[in-house]
Amino acid sequence: MKKLLSAAVLSSVFFGFSAAALAESPLIIKFSHVVAPDTPKGKGADKFKELAEKYTDGKVVVEVYPNSQLYKDKEELEALQLGAVQMLAPSLAKFGPLGVREFEVFDLPYIFEDTEDLRKITQGPVGRELLDKLEPKGIKGLGYWDNGFKIMSANSPIQTPDDFLGLKMRIQSSKILEAQMQALDAIPQVMAFSEVYQALQTGVVDGTENPPSNMYTQKMHEVQKHATLSNHGYLGYAVIVNKKFWDNLDPSLRESLEKALAEATEYANDISLQENIDSLQAMKDAGYTTFYELSPEERAEWIQQLQPVHKKMASRIGENVVEAVYEALGKN
Ligand code: LMR
Repeated sequence: MKKLLSAAVLSSVFFGFSAAALAESPLIIKFSHVVAPDTPKGKGADKFKELAEKYTDGKVVVEVYPNSQLYKDKEELEALQLGAVQMLAPSLAKFGPLGVREFEVFDLPYIFEDTEDLRKITQGPVGRELLDKLEPKGIKGLGYWDNGFKIMSANSPIQTPDDFLGLKMRIQSSKILEAQMQALDAIPQVMAFSEVYQALQTGVVDGTENPPSNMYTQKMHEVQKHATLSNHGYLGYAVIVNKKFWDNLDPSLRESLEKALAEATEYANDISLQENIDSLQAMKDAGYTTFYELSPEERAEWIQQLQPVHKKMASRIGENVVEAVYEALGKN
């Protein structure tokens, strides 16, 4: 009897303690990403951490894991679906393998003239509808973060579309980017972001594409002799969370996190342009790479070579999505 009683007391003490501990322990949000902390996405994630912890009075702690520390490109999406991490901001070019091909519309070459064009999609109904397509995958899309426009790099000059003939070019896992490289007669090679530097260094691939901020912070310029400021495509992110996790949050916490995210989004989108300008300048100063600027005539030649990708790939993306984007951009 005595034994039983003490077991009961012990367990009530134990459970009492653990319940108290649970009540006090903060909710952890693991935010995994593949780029350096010193990039538009890295800084956006850190800003979200700062604001989320502030607005929830420490009830939420955001752990940011940059540079593929936890997961590489493909694995991070699986980890989010499984609930091993709660938050990511993958590039819009990485949702195809998940079965959501519509985001690949963002990869169409020369679809956006500038950031203003882009905003018509990311801050409008088309962007919202695209995020909603993630829900059946157990993912909630919260918003879009910019990086910027991509430049091409290689170890040989790549000033005209003809210069790409036979070059092995690393791409993200997007069929549109594959078609884009094929339109240049290059050989596309899908590879995780964390592996690109070494692949360039060892000659596994000859070149790649990325906005200057990614190229610089991964030191790719140290292993690329040439780059062309082609601005031929856009790279940005969908900020996403595990839907079950998000839906089960206490509503007041969720509200605070939404506020934190809205402000972090504004911050990330405000700094991205300057981050890319600074990174480009830093690479120019470093002196490893010759940067080539396209004349308007040369740019027109690139556009002419790459434009057929739109028509060729519209059925993969979804004709209606491509149409909706054209419409929003006034391209119809
Ligand atoms: C890449 O893989 O090139 C980019 O998507 C990396 C990133 O997240 O910016």
